[in-house]
Amino acid sequence: MRTQVAIVGGGPAGLMLAHLLDRQGVQSVIVEKRSRDYVEKRVRAGVLEQGTVDLLVATGVGDRLQREGLAHHGIELRFSGQSHRIPLSDLTGGQAITIYGQQEVVRDLIEARLAAGQTIHFEFDDTTLHRLDSDTPAIEGTLDGGPVRIEADFVAGCDGSHGICRAAIPTDAHRIFERDYPFGWVGILVDAPPSSEELIYAHHERGFALHSMRSPEITRLYVQCDRDDSIEAWPDRRIWDELQARLALPGWTLTEGPVLEKGITGMRSVVVEPMRWHRLFLAGDAAHIVPPTGAKGLNLAIHDVRVLAEALGEWYRSGSGALLDRYSAACLRRVWRAQEFSSQMTTMLHRPPSDPDGVEQRLQLARLRQLAGSRAAATALAEGYVGIFNERDLDGVG
Ligand code: FAD
Ligand code: DHB
Repeated sequence: MRTQVAIVGGGPAGLMLAHLLDRQGVQSVIVEKRSRDYVEKRVRAGVLEQGTVDLLVATGVGDRLQREGLAHHGIELRFSGQSHRIPLSDLTGGQAITIYGQQEVVRDLIEARLAAGQTIHFEFDDTTLHRLDSDTPAIEGTLDGGPVRIEADFVAGCDGSHGICRAAIPTDAHRIFERDYPFGWVGILVDAPPSSEELIYAHHERGFALHSMRSPEITRLYVQCDRDDSIEAWPDRRIWDELQARLALPGWTLTEGPVLEKGITGMRSVVVEPMRWHRLFLAGDAAHIVPPTGAKGLNLAIHDVRVLAEALGEWYRSGSGALLDRYSAACLRRVWRAQEFSSQMTTMLHRPPSDPDGVEQRLQLARLRQLAGSRAAATALAEGYVGIFNERDLDGVG
């Protein structure tokens, strides 16, 4: 098999890259380890920045998103037994976030690609990468029990945080920056209407909790757990008890319901620099992971592939590799800004495993009170949350 761009991974990054390339007449093939059913049902992110929504709509894959997505103009910060609204849209000149499940984005992209007669090889196994430092890289693997080889001009590593592409870069050709956070999240999807119209980020002495949603009928909730907790340690009753305690507010009720899905996730920051090695380009979680508190992971993945698709488009149109050469630096600026935002949100809201003298808790509350009282502080948070990352361009890249 021969194509122009071989894409490893059919998550949001790989699917969106293929879609954007297709719109420029650049051929691609996606290989995805899992089944279509599995990737369409994998429950993950839910918050789309305005820029992500605008791109999906502008490129023809936003119809259902526009019908079913829930536009949110504010979020609530809950702490010290009170709630404070951050009016995102008022503070950012009208920008909003949209609640729409990641698996719905994935479904829409798969449907669009298959409708356009393009290929996705699901259940592609034993993927290996070859000759990435030549002009003729290739992917090999197994499909329907038989060996397959795909030759390409470029390989896009969109295979997430546990993929093979990041590891294909020689250790002396990149650096990995990593930070582990000493806690995780238990997440549940619940068959019950949301208890509030907006997202609630709760700081509590028992730990962080988050109230979110997927639709007017489905609630999504997260509760901070220990880093090494297993899901078995969190029977449904324990999760509800913690959520009830951490989200409690006089006059407000958290509606419980049947738990449809339940999972546990650790919290890490990872950045790979550079995001390119010869003909291999990393995008999305393959290149960076943010702690989920800022809801940035999916949005960064979409941003990466937008930049990559533009650069590959230029290469095929004019033969110029100038944008490809700038890809990594252009993406990393936003990645580090998103890391900084996510790290601030995470540190401000989670209970550290050890805070013997209570200093951390007092610093967190001081910051939260400032957000509740200062328009300038709230504006900075709102800008980061909706994805306005104003930075002074000091190096001319991006
Ligand atoms: P992935 O979605 O991981 O896709 C990678 C794909 O590659 C997978 O389908 C995988 O099966 C495939 N693959 C792996 N290895 C191979 C191989 N060897 N061969 C072929 N295929 C392979 N982000 C937000 O923006 N907003 C949020 O609200 C948010 N909340 C989150 C909540 C939780 C609990 C979690 C866990 C994450 C959250 N994120 C959020 C992060 C977001 O889900 C990820 O950043 C996003 O999935 C990244 O997309 P991706 O395409 O880069 O990677
Ligand atoms: C959701 C996930 C997040 O990480 C977040 O910060 C807000 C909402 C969600 O899954 O709905």
